[in-house]
Amino acid sequence: MRGRSVLLIIGGGIAAYKSLDLIRRLAERGVKTRAILTRAGAEFVTPLSVAALTTEKVYSDLFSLTDESEMGHIELSRAADLVVVAPATADLMGKLAGGLASDLASTALLATDKRILMAPAMNVRMWQSPSVRRSAETLARDGVLFVGPNDGEMACGEFGPGRMAEPLEIVAAIERALEIRGGALGGLKALVTAGPTQEPLDPVRFIANRSSGKQGYAIAAALAAAGADTVLVSGPVDIAASPHVKLVKVTTARDMLAACEAELPADIAVMSAAVADWRPDIAAGSKIKKGADHSIPTLKLVENPDILATLGHHRNRPRLVIGFAAETDDVLAHATAKRARKGADWIIANDVSTDDKGESVMGGDRNQVHLITATTQERWPQMAKADVARRLVQHITQHFQGTDS
Ligand code: C5P
Repeated sequence: MRGRSVLLIIGGGIAAYKSLDLIRRLAERGVKTRAILTRAGAEFVTPLSVAALTTEKVYSDLFSLTDESEMGHIELSRAADLVVVAPATADLMGKLAGGLASDLASTALLATDKRILMAPAMNVRMWQSPSVRRSAETLARDGVLFVGPNDGEMACGEFGPGRMAEPLEIVAAIERALEIRGGALGGLKALVTAGPTQEPLDPVRFIANRSSGKQGYAIAAALAAAGADTVLVSGPVDIAASPHVKLVKVTTARDMLAACEAELPADIAVMSAAVADWRPDIAAGSKIKKGADHSIPTLKLVENPDILATLGHHRNRPRLVIGFAAETDDVLAHATAKRARKGADWIIANDVSTDDKGESVMGGDRNQVHLITATTQERWPQMAKADVARRLVQHITQHFQGTDS
């Protein structure tokens, strides 16, 4: 870590005192820290303490002419190797997730071209609130890294997740984040498909399905965060891809297959797209009109190429091919058969019938899956799609490090 530098954004929370210790721990390891102290952060620790520990000027004002003449806020956000937010408050997380730039800290977070690591700290109810969950999931999908929060007793007397990670845990996370470029999956290329495909009937109508693309986008973000050179081939969806992935947008299954083949060779393929199984035999060149006699057109469908099976049996086959199986019944039996049929190494099987709360995984933020390999079947608890993505990437990492079956 020696010789590296961190921009530390200190948000407003009682855990801010631990950020002072974090600066010292980083200094011990030869890491230079420059700090932005938010207005709320300055209610908990003083600019003088931060300046003394960083041996640097402390930045806090977006509109300060003296600061701007010394170092502009854009440069400030890019000069460091990593941006660390500790404590990351609900406010800072929400601002970045929502794209707001209302003060120096949020502006630097939006303007940076470096990785962002957040150490959240807040009351347990706040952390569990639907809006903070949404922010956390959006940020994880965008490639933001997290450390903590930990479970435990909080300064406010409540108990649960919300305590900021300890300084040494944050140091370890910084160490991992700084190594990312050559990180756990550094040097490997990953190809991910996501979203639905649209199969045109005529210029205004198409056949598609309800896939949101959320799981595939989260997997691409997690692969990139682990250092893989990641290409995301996506059907039409309206979510943002991590800035760290190469996004290739396609419409039809045939386009998706061509885009995937153009990216070979690759080491890892994760095929999470909900590809339309069939397409209309002929896509009419102009809008199909209603007949005066009210006759109803007959659709003739033809089969689309199976992208997973094509890559699974390809002469340039990726070393690890992972498919998805969305089933509504007999999930494990169907998924196991699919693994063999499609030439996949692993299948992530999920039950897409509605869950006990009546929610469907299609379009939702949570997922409950099984990981099926040649020799094992593992049931994972229900968790956020971003967590499924991270856990899958852990397995992929172990596989390439040779510690997995
Ligand atoms: O056969 P089924 O659609 O259930 O298989 C699901 C798996 O196959 C997913 O990984 C999906 O991305 C992939 N698939 C594909 N091309 C198709 C159909 C499915 O890549 N035409």
